[in-house]
Formats: sequence, structure tokens, C-alpha cells
Amino acid sequence: MKPKDSLKVLIVGTGYVGLTTGLSLAYLGHQVYCIDNNKTVVDKLNAGITTIYESGIKELMQESKKNIIFSDEIVKYLPNSDVIVIAVGTPSKNNGDCDLSYVEAVAEEIGNNLNGEKIPVIVNKSTVPVGSSRRVEAVVRSRLEQRGIDMDVLVASNPEFLREGVALNDTLYPDRIVVGADDVRAINLLRQMYAPILEQTFTPPKVIPRPDGFELPAFVTTSATSAELIKYSANAFLAMKISFINEIAGLAERVGADIQEVSRGIGLDKRIGQRFLGAGAGWGGSCFPKDTQAILHTGFQYGYEMPLIKSTIEVNQRQRLCMVEKLQSLLKVIRGSTIGVLGLSFKPDTDDLRDSPSIDIIHRLLDMGARVKAYDPVAMENCRKEYPNLEVEYVDSVSALVNGCDAIALITDWKEFSYINWDEAANQMRQKIVIDGRNMLQREELENLGFNYRGVGR
Ligand code: NAD
Ligand code: UGA
Repeated sequence: MKPKDSLKVLIVGTGYVGLTTGLSLAYLGHQVYCIDNNKTVVDKLNAGITTIYESGIKELMQESKKNIIFSDEIVKYLPNSDVIVIAVGTPSKNNGDCDLSYVEAVAEEIGNNLNGEKIPVIVNKSTVPVGSSRRVEAVVRSRLEQRGIDMDVLVASNPEFLREGVALNDTLYPDRIVVGADDVRAINLLRQMYAPILEQTFTPPKVIPRPDGFELPAFVTTSATSAELIKYSANAFLAMKISFINEIAGLAERVGADIQEVSRGIGLDKRIGQRFLGAGAGWGGSCFPKDTQAILHTGFQYGYEMPLIKSTIEVNQRQRLCMVEKLQSLLKVIRGSTIGVLGLSFKPDTDDLRDSPSIDIIHRLLDMGARVKAYDPVAMENCRKEYPNLEVEYVDSVSALVNGCDAIALITDWKEFSYINWDEAANQMRQKIVIDGRNMLQREELENLGFNYRGVGR
């Protein structure tokens, strides 16, 4: 990037989204200030310690170091920034609505610290309901007015579509970049910020190579309201696609079809597509659960029923409990059985446990009187911290897990679970029962070893 195109980008909130965005923009040549009000996060990052589990992050931190500053002092960097990205959390409230309090707190800080010398573009990257760009603008304006500062306030909605585990890849090689704004100055500045990604003019980092055949991403400009709705609709659609295949999986089990054959058979239709048709223990994570609730709540606020999204959530809840029903049908009595849970994180390649199917399943098994052991390659430490009262016996290997178990329930599709030595496991287990909640194990191999195997929809 030519130095004249380089921007000063302030990112408020240095979690999954803020850190990924910050490191990527710094790698591309922008000067980035990553702000977090959690001092521990800032101290760790300054000491070169990564705070999220993401492929390639350590290497990118090293390579981007000269262009990035981590700090908890927003005041120091805010007035001089060209772009201010809001990337703080937007958790669910009890009624399913999105809690905007963190976003609004940042908007207040922005209004309290701009001095009118520079007009930055304020970017809502957090996932926020329709109207939030206007809300941020109103909060900033009101603080500026109170301080007697007369200046333009430019706000854009720029939803984030990254997936955890492959966040840096998704940021550098996205399908599209969506910018919703009414003012062309905001759109132009963000086009400039994203130019190296839109045009793919950068040399790919060694650890995050450009995918073969990667096509230039679309730059989609919309109204702020459309951009806000695009984000929720994308997540709701993906969640619905998974719930759809899980619903069909239940029917496949009853009629004797194999859901993997069905997924392939329908997914080859280009209008449907193969991805997100993996039947299993259901979806979880920091976003699908809260975002489906939030879009439902928006509908409710407008007196508009959204039965597809409601069913998407219900089917998902039922799907988690299906894993327990499968165990029950094979074990007959759960009370007193020892069950080994393979995988705790909501999906592989992350240590994130937010709304993970495993946690619901473990709670249910404990309620039913089972003894539960668990193994996860990276998420056990988080699990101990976040669920200190969960009566689970953590073990540090698959072989320690299977030892003495009546059944194994695989809930997260970590790659290492494809290499389990089931021959050895068969000798260590009390009963040979395996529930494959992600359809990733070799059924024939297990059955040949005498296992009673149950997948999902097969
Ligand atoms: P996160 O919880 O990992 O990080 C948020 C960070 O913001 C935390 O480190 C917190 O300390 C910090 N913070 C909160 N208030 C602050 C303030 N006033 N000043 C400075 N820092 C502050 O959250 P996340 O997963 O990065 O998600 C952020 C937003 O992006 C959410 O709206 C989420 O829905 C959306 N999103 C997340 C993902 C994902 O995969 N995690 C993907 C797309 C969109
Ligand atoms: C999801 C979206 O994919 C991102 O585009 C979006 O930016 C993000 O939410 C967000 O808004 O935070 P993420 O939650 O990281 O990303 O994970 P996904 O890879 O989408 O998986 C979500 C859940 O669906 C996982 O529990 C996964 O196991 C499950 N899943 C996924 C299936 O059960 N079947 C599938 O075929 C695919």
C-alpha cells in the first residue's frame, strides 16, 4: 500500500472481531490502534501473548507489530483517527433483544473525545439491530452538542461475517464487504480502507495463504438499515439451513435413508449449495443463538411473526437433546452410567464455549444421574473457568476419556477425533457404545470392532 493511502484506524473492543480486524488492517499497512477497556487483554497483547485461539494469529501479530498499538487509553488516539471501528460485544438480553449498552458506551466516549479537527467515519462492526447506526449517531451528536462542538458525524454499518477458527482467512479473503451508509464520504473512506482486500494487492501472509481460485470480493453498498438486516439475515439463513438438514436427518433415521447421501444429493444443486448441510448435534456459538433471538425480537417489536426463525431455534434445541435420547435408547438407563464427552467447544478450532451444544448435553446427562467425563483439545481450561460448578471430570487425552466409559458422545468435530484408536478403546470401555454427533467417524470400522454406533440421520 502507498503511504498516502494508509489510514489511522482506531478499533474499540479487541476481542475476536476487533483483534482480527486490527491485525489484518495493520498487516495491510494501516496504522491501527486497538483499544480495550479490559487491562488484562491489553497487557497480554502488549506482551505478545494472543488472547484468542485462531489459526495464524501469532504469526500475524509478529508481522503486523510495527503498525499496531494495543492500549486502554482511547482518549490518546481517538481525536486523530480517520476511522473508528466499534467492535464490542452485543449480548442477548433476557427477552432475546440485543443489548446495545456496550455500543452506546463507546458512542458516548467518541462524543466526549472528538474535538472537531478531523471528521472520522464511525463504523458499527458489532452485530446490531436495525436503527443502531442512527442511535450511535444520535448519542455522539448529543455529547458533541453538550460540549458545544459543531461537526459532521458520519456513521456507517459494516457488518462482520468472519467465522471463528478461520477468522483471519475470512477477513483477508471475504466473499463480500458490506457498507451501509447515507454519506458518500463514509463509503469512499471505507473503500480506501478495504482497497488492498477488494483488489487483493497485498502479498499473502505465509500462514494465511490466498485460497486457490479466490475471486475478488464484492463491495456492496447499501443503506445502513439494509446492512444491519443483511447481517442478521445471513446468520438466520445459515442457522436455518443447518436446522433444516437436522430436521430431515430425523426423518432419514426413521425411513432408513442416509443424511450424508441426502445432503450431497441436494447440495449439488447450485441453488442450494453443499455448505452448512452437515447434520449433527446442532449449532451453537457466540452468534447464531443470540442473532436468531435478536431478529425474532425485531419482528416482535414490529408485530410481525417469524415462524421460520422460531422453528429454526426450536429444531436446534431438540437436536441437542436428541444426542441424549440416542444414549438413552442404547444404554436404557442413564443413571449410574459413565459417559465420555468428546469435544466441548461449539465447533472445532476454537476454545469458545458460548452456547455450545456440549454444555446443554452435559447438563442434561448430569440431571439424569450420569457420571460425565470430558476431553477437548483446547477448551477445557475455559470450561473450568466459565462453568466452575459443572460436575465434569476433565481428562487430558482420548485414551483417559474412554477408560471405564459405558458410552462415548462425540459432540465437536475436532480433526484429532478422526484418528482415535477404537481397537484400543474397545478394550478400555465398559460397554461399546458410540454416539457420533458430527457423523465424522468410520461407522463400518466401529461396527466391525463390535461397537454399537449411532450417527445422526444415518
Ligand atoms: P468479544 O467479547 O470477543 O470482544 C469484545 C471486546 O470488547 C472485549 O474484549 C471487551 O473487553 C471489549 N469492550 C467492551 N466494552 C468496551 C469499551 N467500552 N471500550 C473498550 N473495549 C470494550 O466479542 P466478539 O466476539 O469480538 O464480538 C464483537 C461483536 O462482533 C459482537 O456484536 C458480535 O456479535 C459480532 N461478531 C462476532 C463474530 C465472532 O465470530 N466472534 C463474528 C461476526 C460478528
Ligand atoms: C457464524 C457465521 O458462519 C459467520 O459468518 C458469522 O460472522 C458469525 O457466525 C458471527 O456472526 O459471529 P461461527 O459462529 O464462528 O460463524 O461458526 P460457524 O462455522 O458458522 O458454525 C456455527 C455452528 O454451526 C457450529 O456450532 C457448527 O458446529 C454448526 N454447524 C456448521 C453445523 O452443525 N453444521 C454445518 O454444516 C455447519
